[in-house]
Amino acid sequence: MKVTVVGAGNVGATCADVLATREIANEIVLLDIKEGFAEGKALDIWQTAPINLYDSRTVGCTNDYARTADSDVVVITSGLPRKPGMSRDDLIATNAGIVKTVTENVVKYSPNAIIIVVSNPLDVMTYCAFLNANMPSSRVFGMAGVLDTARYRAFLAEELNVSPKDIQAVLMGGHGDTMVPLPRYTTVGGIPVTELIDEARLNEIIERTKFGGGEIVKLLGTSAWYAPGAAAAQMVEAVVRDQKRIFPVCAWLQGEYGMSDIYLGVPVVLGKNGIEKIIELQLNDAERALLVDSAEAVKGVMDVLDNMNAKA
Ligand code: LAC
Repeated sequence: MKVTVVGAGNVGATCADVLATREIANEIVLLDIKEGFAEGKALDIWQTAPINLYDSRTVGCTNDYARTADSDVVVITSGLPRKPGMSRDDLIATNAGIVKTVTENVVKYSPNAIIIVVSNPLDVMTYCAFLNANMPSSRVFGMAGVLDTARYRAFLAEELNVSPKDIQAVLMGGHGDTMVPLPRYTTVGGIPVTELIDEARLNEIIERTKFGGGEIVKLLGTSAWYAPGAAAAQMVEAVVRDQKRIFPVCAWLQGEYGMSDIYLGVPVVLGKNGIEKIIELQLNDAERALLVDSAEAVKGVMDVLDNMNAKA
């Protein structure tokens, strides 16, 4: 299996490192536009192989898409990260141009790849990749829900002083402050979380989750990378190992949840064909209202992209 990670910044390099260390692919290509940068990161990652005892080979290249040819999966992390005070949406103009060029180059050399987008604003950058990829939407999707549920699960594990392994959760909607964690679908070792944490406290944890990315931006002055990189790698694993994992993924909706022509976070089955099924939960009225709000926020930013493209 060959996996390309475009963008050797913190998220891309972390993703490549996880892919290599866990032997998710035997060939990993890291590509960046900054001269020598991906080569340096890849060399450093490769030199952990004798220490961590694995044989996945990571190589780097500067903007040489021929090196990425025939990748099975491509992860796109390119673009500027957030700085304090910025929303993910503030990145749209710069990152849309970058994601468009990257997608065109990726598809030229790997027409049968599955593309996982990580760049922000996530839902709209996934849409941007889809518009430029000319591929079925089951093969172009975005990483957000795996990260957002990981944050939610980490906070719940801390609150209850239990293993994060035992916390299962679904979260829907856009990758922004309107994301929709679903307590009704959150369990701890099979026990509904609502039996273990009272409503007021659970709401505080949900609020912290919604702003989980921003909390890190405030602390670091730039956005997170360990959890985003690992989350993207976990999605790659589901595809290359055909695991049929159920993950919240930013997917193109065509009638599901009563919505069409929008990229939004929903639970899906991920396997070798990419999104093999979109799972439709029976949401109650309150949950549906939150999802509709989130969809409206995403649609607003998709419109900004459409208008930019119309002017171009
Ligand atoms: C975050 C960025 C990667 O949520 O969107 O940390």
